[in-house]
Amino acid sequence: MRTKTSLQLFFLVSAWVATSPSRAQVKVQPRTTAPAPAPQTPSQENVESAFSGPESCAASNCHGGVQPKTVVRISQNEYSIWASQDKHARAYSVLSNPVSVRMGKILGLTAAPNQSDKCLNCHTLNVKPERRAQTFQSTDGGVSCENCHGPAVKWLGPHTLKNWTHDQSVKLGMYDTRDLARRTEKCLSCHLGTAEKEVDHTMIAAGHPDLTFQLDTFSSAMPRHWKPPADASAWLSVRELAVGQAVQLRAALNRLNRRSSGPHWPEFAEYECFACHHSLTTPEASWRQAAGYRSRPPGAPVWNPSTYAVFRHVAAGVDAGTMQQLTLQLVEIQRISGNPANKDDLAARANDAAVLTDQITQQLKSQAYDRNLTTKLLQEIADDSETISAEGERSAEQATMALDSLSLAYEKNEQVGNQAQLRAAINDLFQQLGNPSAYNAPKFAQQMQRVAKLVPRDRAQNVGELGAAPKVNSEGSSQF
Ligand code: HEC
Ligand code: HEC
Ligand code: HEC
Ligand code: HEC
Repeated sequence: MRTKTSLQLFFLVSAWVATSPSRAQVKVQPRTTAPAPAPQTPSQENVESAFSGPESCAASNCHGGVQPKTVVRISQNEYSIWASQDKHARAYSVLSNPVSVRMGKILGLTAAPNQSDKCLNCHTLNVKPERRAQTFQSTDGGVSCENCHGPAVKWLGPHTLKNWTHDQSVKLGMYDTRDLARRTEKCLSCHLGTAEKEVDHTMIAAGHPDLTFQLDTFSSAMPRHWKPPADASAWLSVRELAVGQAVQLRAALNRLNRRSSGPHWPEFAEYECFACHHSLTTPEASWRQAAGYRSRPPGAPVWNPSTYAVFRHVAAGVDAGTMQQLTLQLVEIQRISGNPANKDDLAARANDAAVLTDQITQQLKSQAYDRNLTTKLLQEIADDSETISAEGERSAEQATMALDSLSLAYEKNEQVGNQAQLRAAINDLFQQLGNPSAYNAPKFAQQMQRVAKLVPRDRAQNVGELGAAPKVNSEGSSQF
């Protein structure tokens, strides 16, 4: 099976970020409004939340500057960063590459992929003609500003005015990407899918990459074209990680509910991919047989629990009762997911679990993030090597991205004596994921244990009250 190239990208990104002075030394400027180009009279007031198209933001005195401006909080080079570095800007052109063309043939699309809504919905700003303003030139700009920031016609003019606030723009239809939960929902609308647009196993088998996500890692990889808010905590990226994980689990459970209650169940993309797609060995060399199958029948596919692997640590400190209920549901979901006859039960449990996750999301949004919590998470995730690695390649991937994010957040704020060693050890984790069909859980666990020895340990020893991740055991060992 094909190597996941994005991980190699993250590997490079994390290595770059670690040495890049720009990320560590972002100077947050006092909040002022951007110098306004002559404000447009909002003559399009009658147009109901229309899209103006990416070119509207590109002027060099708006967001198209090449060098970041430093006298104002908004650097005004957002368009240039997007156009030159962000893969989103190329998302339309990839629909004409040989892989896409072949995908279109395999799937029997009636139009070419670069003209088919099935692809355009995630790869461009694909809005109905009646919602396009006159400035809207074409849909071939890839995933552009308004895909994330919302239809701009109503706020485009006024948002350049002095003393104009973000909230005022949001009232006029700007999407609230500052809210981390809303931000993650927006990313996941394409990076996990919705009822209207999705990537299923049929598309993956035709050539589409599998979708994985982690808010902080993916934001760095874009790369970010924004600065942290003026009042942001130094540990903002840890909050991003935590809230992102919660929204990701909730979205995954909603998708499981949707798919298992629909007509096309079982949907293979809901299962751990490498339950089916691994290279076989002799029985003596099989780590899967050595581990046993925990509570599920041997050989049954199993719901991919990767969105829970890191979440359960992130959420360990909040509301133990809700976490306990959620863990019980997820253990059951894992146990019954492989048998298509359990479809209705599965859909109901996925729905319950999504509601519980939503409650925890709210708590994770409001809780404080600091050095103690960061070291605690680093330790607990790294120490959970046996369970995480046994859950499969996708869980290992989430843990790796989380360890990477957390250690970078730590290094940004604190001195780390063994920084180079820690970075090298985490990069080894990324490398083990380079060929997912050859993924080997015991080997991965060993490398995580090396990382565990290198992560910063807490000096204060006072984090015990934050609580430990719930360990729910069904049949003695089934815990995930
Ligand atoms: C649910 C949203 C969604 C839909 C629908 C979708 N894609 Fe994608 N596509 C993505 C995302 C997200 C990525 C990036 C995945 C990653 O790298 O993590 C991607 C990546 C790709 C890539 C790899 C690009 C690269 O840089 O190598 C190709 C090719 C592709 N999509 C083609 C298609 C085609 C063809 C269709 C229609 C048949 C389609 N996509 C439909 C979301 C979608
Ligand atoms: C893939 C999603 C995405 C795309 C595409 C995107 N942005 Fe953003 N943008 C964000 C996120 C997330 C933030 C950070 C949250 C925030 O500040 O609103 C942000 C922040 C910003 C900010 C800083 C806002 C502030 O108050 O700090 C500006 C300005 C901006 N984007 C302009 C643009 C422009 C112009 C484009 C198109 C060239 C664009 N963005 C494309 C997601 C996106
Ligand atoms: C409208 C759909 C859409 C939204 C919303 C969206 N993305 Fe994407 N994203 C894509 C597609 C499609 C690609 C594939 C582009 C390509 O490879 O050419 C992609 C690619 C990426 C990549 C490159 C992945 C790789 O393998 O190299 C990153 C990183 C990324 N997105 C992060 C984000 C983040 C962070 C957000 C939210 C702030 C977000 N995206 C919102 C559709 C979207
Ligand atoms: C229940 C078993 C099962 C699961 C789980 C599963 N697949 Fe598949 N997959 C198959 C089968 C069967 C085929 C068809 C293979 C063939 O025709 O040779 C296939 C085909 C594919 C192919 C095309 C074959 C190739 O060699 O290029 C890809 C890629 C793929 N799957 C990726 C995935 C990913 C990624 C996941 C997880 C999101 C996944 N699969 C989950 C059974 C599964």
